[in-house]
Amino acid sequence: MKGIAATFLPPIALDYRSKTPLYGQLYEWFRKAIFAGQLRPGQRVPSTRSLATELKVSRIPVLNAYEQLLAEGYFESFVGAGTCVARSIPEDTLIAAARKARRGSPEKAEKRGSRRMSRRGTTLTQLPPQTWLDNLGAFRVSLPALEHFPIKIWSKLVARHSRRPPTGLMAYGRPMGYLPFREVIAEYLGTVRGVRCEPSQILVTTGSQQALQLSAQVLLDPKDQVWIEEPGYPSARHAFMTAGAQVIPVRVDHDGMDVAEVIRRGRDARVVYVTPSHQYPMGMTMSATRRMLLLNWAARAGVWIIEDDYDSEYRFGTRPIASLQGMDSDERVIYVGTFSKVLFPALRLGYVAVPKDLVPAFSAARDSADVFSSTLYQAVATDFIREGHFARHIRRMRMLYMERRTELVKAIDSQMGDTLEVIGTEAGMHLVALLPRGIRDVAISTEAARMGICAMPLSSCYMQPPPRGGFVLGYGGANTHQIHDGISKLRMSLRSARALI
Ligand SMILES: Cc1ncc(COP(=O)(O)O)c(C=O)c1O
Repeated sequence: MKGIAATFLPPIALDYRSKTPLYGQLYEWFRKAIFAGQLRPGQRVPSTRSLATELKVSRIPVLNAYEQLLAEGYFESFVGAGTCVARSIPEDTLIAAARKARRGSPEKAEKRGSRRMSRRGTTLTQLPPQTWLDNLGAFRVSLPALEHFPIKIWSKLVARHSRRPPTGLMAYGRPMGYLPFREVIAEYLGTVRGVRCEPSQILVTTGSQQALQLSAQVLLDPKDQVWIEEPGYPSARHAFMTAGAQVIPVRVDHDGMDVAEVIRRGRDARVVYVTPSHQYPMGMTMSATRRMLLLNWAARAGVWIIEDDYDSEYRFGTRPIASLQGMDSDERVIYVGTFSKVLFPALRLGYVAVPKDLVPAFSAARDSADVFSSTLYQAVATDFIREGHFARHIRRMRMLYMERRTELVKAIDSQMGDTLEVIGTEAGMHLVALLPRGIRDVAISTEAARMGICAMPLSSCYMQPPPRGGFVLGYGGANTHQIHDGISKLRMSLRSARALI
């Protein structure tokens, strides 16, 4: 290689007291000099020997730095011709980077190429902010009583599986999940929820949110219609919207979704999303008549039903309501469940019972999304269920949540009974407190969030203007003190928000 002129380098200052080793400082110095345009592509750099002499350091750190820069493609070397800054580094990138660095403000003025996002990407940025979800204070919906989780037992099981894990636990797993876990889930669902499926139909997901996304991916093309409950679960709406689907709200009444309305207007429906056991957020149960109507129509019309059965383990008065999936004779129902409430949300474990003919598509969708869920936690959860800890935990939590529900109703009654009307207290870990007509909820929720209270505005569950505002209040994760304190803060928020309006 000819014609590479040896040039002077800008001064290199090494800090001998720094924690960064000398070779690291040299490496960083060269990288920065290249980005700042002080060293140009093709420019020759001194030999390691001469640079070491010049800097009065041993040759080893210089050799190590050069080796790293060569390995990462910042330098290239030629036998007999020394080392230079790689000529393949595009000069215009360096000049732009150098200009930005000199100006000190990276973003301004530079004429830039298009930064267009996809329509889906743009939709994602347009989702409304939810400041009330920024804290874990009282009334955070779907937060269980974490302080009552049997963490000692759980830790023992984690240790048991981590000590000498078989390769199956550490290597790549199957997209559908860890087979023993799928077996216990299928057995549990069959016994407790009346779900009819085989382990081969269970796909383990990272929470029910992923189950909804995979369902959208497998079942919907852009602009396809999904009919959802109004009010309904905002995260389900977001999952469908970001898949490019057209989301159509259908009002709920005391029997759940107005199925007759779906049948009347839903000629082009592809998917119906429902929470029949415990409507989210209003809390009613879908009547048997509507369930049958929905299933029969879906079978005739070729519509898929997504059943989100997110918390039916916690019913206080009556026995658990059997699933819609169990009544389905046409394999129309995609049954979604989660361990977020019955274990804990950070576990990110959920599942979906998929009709047999859809299994290959769901499996492939999971594979191309994030391959599979952590096998270690699937194995731990399997033992937790098999050894009886799960059933015991649910029994204890059912009692606790019943007490917390009663305490919350009492606190609302005594402190805000003249303002809030409570509904949906029969099951689950949340209830709805309705405001008088004409009072908007978002400003109050925002004010409450400032006080560390998570009072989700009911209007965020609506796509259209709600008939009444209110709050979706979770009581699973709040103890007696937090409940009473939380309601008094909500009362203060109501006062100051109304003063601001
Ligand atoms: C209707 C509904 N579905 C599902 C979930 C659980 O979501 P995930 O399993 O993604 O934590 C919740 C939690 O708030 C919910 O309210």
